[in-house]
Amino acid sequence: MNLEDTIYKRQSIRSYDATPLGNETLDEIRDFIDNAKELNPNIKWSYEILPTENISTMMRWKAPHYIAIFSEEKENCYQNIGFVFQQVDLFLQSKGIGTCWIGMGSPKNYKNPDDSQKFIIIISVGMPKGNLYREINQFRRKALEDISDKRDERLAPAQFAPSASNTQPWYFTHNDDGSYDLYRVKGGVLRSRIYGNWNKIDTGIALAHLYVANGDSFKFYKKDNPKELKGHFYAGSFEI
Ligand SMILES: Cc1cc2nc3c(=O)[nH]c(=O)nc-3n(C[C@H](O)[C@H](O)[C@H](O)COP(=O)(O)O)c2cc1C
Repeated sequence: MNLEDTIYKRQSIRSYDATPLGNETLDEIRDFIDNAKELNPNIKWSYEILPTENISTMMRWKAPHYIAIFSEEKENCYQNIGFVFQQVDLFLQSKGIGTCWIGMGSPKNYKNPDDSQKFIIIISVGMPKGNLYREINQFRRKALEDISDKRDERLAPAQFAPSASNTQPWYFTHNDDGSYDLYRVKGGVLRSRIYGNWNKIDTGIALAHLYVANGDSFKFYKKDNPKELKGHFYAGSFEI
């Protein structure tokens, strides 16, 4: 299956076969990651594929591998990581491999060689025990008209994006020139304390789906003076 079709089939996998993936597959994954598109090529990031023993999570299930992701702490770094690694999530799922973004976990007994990079998040990886894919009517997502100032089928790839606790914090507005502005829902103090950085990853994930569906035309940029939208943070602008 191609990456775009995978958007409408993928789901988070929380039950894995303990057998590790072969070295050839792991090398293919590394190759894909190294060539994924970035939102901000000026932000350094890195990753390591770690075994179960090197991960501590709050989850009761385990996967044979985890991608531990690190980044320089710069403006847009979380959104950039969401964007890069959602392409990886789609690639893995398109190949029949299960994945789940995990906010509630971190590496243990592993130190990133680059001290200037901070740990961001992990993603579990392995062969799923049950079905990998779901049907389109099994997605629990907000309606298209609730994630944008006007209903727009072109935003469907973002509508289906995964997010921390399925919060779906994205909101899109249309500009007269055909471009879009992206906003992130602010929420209350508690929500921003729990989901703040994860929701930044989420908007990057939604942008990755829009990029995968519009590979040739996708352009991302930040405006110096974006329009304010009550209850939201400006997260960037794009063309598709
Ligand atoms: C940034 C982020 C953090 C997440 N953290 C967890 C987690 O700690 N544990 C978990 O089981 N799922 C986690 N998820 C998976 C979401 O719960 C899941 O993507 C969402 O409920 C939508 O379901 P779907 O991916 O099956 O479509 C996370 C997802 C994202 C994007």
